[in-house]
Amino acid sequence: MGKGTQMTDDLKRIAAEKAVDDFVKDGMTVGLGTGSTAYHAIRRVGELVNKGFKLKCVATSLQTENIAEECGITVVDLDEVDQIDVTIDGADEVDPDMQLIKGLGGALLREKIVAASTAFEVIVVDESKLVEKLGTKSPLPVEVLKFGHLKTKKALERQGCIAVLRVKDDKTFVTDNGNYVYDCKFSGIDNPFFLESRINVIPGVVDNGLFLNTAAAVIVSSADGNVRVMNR
Ligand code: 5RP
Repeated sequence: MGKGTQMTDDLKRIAAEKAVDDFVKDGMTVGLGTGSTAYHAIRRVGELVNKGFKLKCVATSLQTENIAEECGITVVDLDEVDQIDVTIDGADEVDPDMQLIKGLGGALLREKIVAASTAFEVIVVDESKLVEKLGTKSPLPVEVLKFGHLKTKKALERQGCIAVLRVKDDKTFVTDNGNYVYDCKFSGIDNPFFLESRINVIPGVVDNGLFLNTAAAVIVSSADGNVRVMNR
């Protein structure tokens, strides 16, 4: 890992560990996010479990489930729990109102389903994820059915973006749910609520990476050593 990458990873770890230390209590049901920042939260949750905390954990992806099990965490199915007390997850962009773009890690659908069953969603990011306006740094990932996906792409582009089918390791990326992802590049999203309502009615769209009014707290770590918590 290069020096810059190591520093970014340290920032991710600092935010993730603070989230677990501040919000996860013995006996809770905990949602485990996906991605390189959530990874550090999963490891910290594993440390708590190994200390004797009794936690029920729900994973937002197969990747997370595997990491959790390697850390000694027992993962249960979402439908085995009534509600999740706290979920700790990463994000690709966070705006000043704590609205989010998620899904560059490919898990947006399960992340959104888990978030919808969560009482308190904590987002952990390093400061590079903060933006004044959503869609200025990150494309908006949209999960679509394989069937007719080129038609879905055209309909997405009518919303004012360039939609690029995601490829990973030279192959079309397929989500845990068997779907494709289009990364939709906007030159900034002026009204995320309106855009979300337009995208979600396109036949073939399964869900999109706008997570609006989802985060209850956002923990942001900065290179100057500062860690701050944004609250609603
Ligand atoms: C996965 C996600 C991730 O939380 C998001 O992509 C951030 O990932 P990372 O912490 O690796 O930057 O939404 O679907």
